Amino acid sequence: MDMIKVLVVNDDPEEREAIGEAFLNIEYISLAAEVETADEAMEEIEKTDPAVVIVGAYVSGDGLGLASKIARSYPEKSVIILERELREENMRRAIFAGARDVLIYPFDPAKLVDSVYRCYQVAQERRAEQQRERKARKKLGPSQGQVLTVFSTKGGVGKTFLATNLAVSLARQTGGRVALVDLDLDFGNAALAMNVIPRYTIFSLVDDIRYLDQDLLEGYLISHDSGVKLLPANAQPQPAEFISADHIKEILRLMQSSFDYIVLDMPDRFYDPADPVFQMADQLFLVVTPEVAAVRNVKACLLAFHEANFPKDKIKLVLNKAEMGGEIKPRDVETTLSYKLYSVLPAEHKLVASSLNKGIPLVQMSPRHKVSRGIMEMARRISSGSIVHEKEGL
Ligand SMILES: Nc1ncnc2c1ncn2[C@@H]1O[C@H](COP(=O)(O)OP(=O)(O)OP(=O)(O)O)[C@@H](O)[C@H]1O
Ligand SMILES: [Mg+2]
Repeated sequence: MDMIKVLVVNDDPEEREAIGEAFLNIEYISLAAEVETADEAMEEIEKTDPAVVIVGAYVSGDGLGLASKIARSYPEKSVIILERELREENMRRAIFAGARDVLIYPFDPAKLVDSVYRCYQVAQERRAEQQRERKARKKLGPSQGQVLTVFSTKGGVGKTFLATNLAVSLARQTGGRVALVDLDLDFGNAALAMNVIPRYTIFSLVDDIRYLDQDLLEGYLISHDSGVKLLPANAQPQPAEFISADHIKEILRLMQSSFDYIVLDMPDRFYDPADPVFQMADQLFLVVTPEVAAVRNVKACLLAFHEANFPKDKIKLVLNKAEMGGEIKPRDVETTLSYKLYSVLPAEHKLVASSLNKGIPLVQMSPRHKVSRGIMEMARRISSGSIVHEKEGL
């Protein structure tokens, strides 16, 4: 078995000695160094590259702050916190700081050895899993998750319907990791459309954002049976200032490192916290319906994107609820908007309403239906990276 290198960060000589003694006759644990302060700890980690760091909860006045810094900067290392009191609050803080284990001083030496050994094992398993994931991702292509934003400045055009079904199609077709984030913060209903009960929402996540890491993020996502992981919005409006553009950026960045596709269900308006969603979007699906009001609205929206220098080739115009023999034809929409349609999804009122009401995405409920086929085709184009060239000029 490999040697497990341990760094001890503790300013209490008695505790340090107890740790040293616990490892005395354990040949597979080696003490890389013992330091007393947070600064020394960060230096020593760089120098000695330990697998496990045992941090005294009161080091440099804030051992948990140090633990959290180590866990964030070196996610492959395990942090064990040494506390002096068994209190629920201490445990919670340690968990949020990213610790793998908490021991109370004075401790049973065998327990400390066991904890170090388990931390090491978990880290090994995690490394193996990451390698497997990396291999799987290589097969899929992009190493950074693609951000797919489903947007329209018009309400009720089918953004939520499209976002949920697109996410499910991508998960089923590619077998990759797909996240769906409901950014319609005031009235989000993606959870309803997927019939999942939001235990947590994006608001709970933002509340804990200072502890945000991959593990915490996973804990806030809800698994759908299609494989999609959902981050829901609240059913009731929350104070607008609670979620900022920086929060959203941080969440999406983290998601990009562990998901292949991140589908965003947007509200029907521009608003400041959503700015990163546009900056980070790899593709923006702009939804329009064949009604004069909707087409006018989307024309203004396209102009706003143009003025903001939003890359035109990222915009994919989707005509939803298209009626056979309707007054406004797909060609009319293209002419009015001077934009080629990326996809046309027919109107299918009863079936779509029933799928949304039941909370079963249409691509699962009726996969052979033409609306489902249209969305699955979009997913195929996204995953195969096919590029559609739009007409020049707005
Ligand atoms: N292809 C379609 N055919 C018929 N009805 C549809 C279609 N797509 C969506 N709808 C209907 O349009 C309504 C709005 O859909 P959805 O909630 O997805 O829109 P939205 O753009 O997300 O709305 P909001 O702006 O309120 O978030 C729903 O009642 C849904 O049943
Ligand atoms: Mg919606």
